[in-house]
Amino acid sequence: MLRAGKPIETCVFDGDDLETTFHLGIHTKDKLVGICSFFKKDHTDIQGKNQYQLRGMAVLKEYQGLGLGNIILTYGEKILEEKKVEVIWCNAREVALNFYKKCGYQIIGNSFLIQDIGWHYVMFKFIND
Ligand SMILES: CC(C)(COP(=O)(O)OP(=O)(O)OC[C@H]1O[C@@H](n2cnc3c(N)ncnc32)[C@H](O)[C@@H]1OP(=O)(O)O)[C@@H](O)C(=O)NCCC(=O)NCCS
Repeated sequence: MLRAGKPIETCVFDGDDLETTFHLGIHTKDKLVGICSFFKKDHTDIQGKNQYQLRGMAVLKEYQGLGLGNIILTYGEKILEEKKVEVIWCNAREVALNFYKKCGYQIIGNSFLIQDIGWHYVMFKFIND
């Protein structure tokens, strides 16, 4: 779902194994149906002391639209609140903009192209303010 039609290696990110990184999954009884990951990383255009980047946000197609993306993201945000993180940001695909808006994220700056994936916007949300 995350990199449809591309090899699984394209879902591996720099920093996946860092101690500050964490990965969440949402499961049915026996199936992983949604994922997201959080990386300790500041964005130069966003103010806020302790920032995390959201990456790898995806829900299996047949489980989309059921609120699972929102549940797993909200769960991650709670963990970050406890870590006193001030800002969460992400490079949001154009197709996912409304999802992030519904989850309280706002756009900063202009769209930009990530090769092989498409147009993106930086989106962010303040927590702990
Ligand atoms: C984006 C994605 C993670 C959303 O997960 P989801 O489980 O379908 O989202 P939810 O059901 O929790 O939706 C939460 C809200 O966002 C809205 N929403 C979700 N996806 C949307 C979309 N593509 N366009 C418009 N609104 C969307 C829902 O309608 C819902 O609003 P509501 O509460 O008013 O009903 C999922 O569609 C996905 O995996 N897409 C493919 C991978 C991808 O593009 N990931 C983002 C990378 S930046």
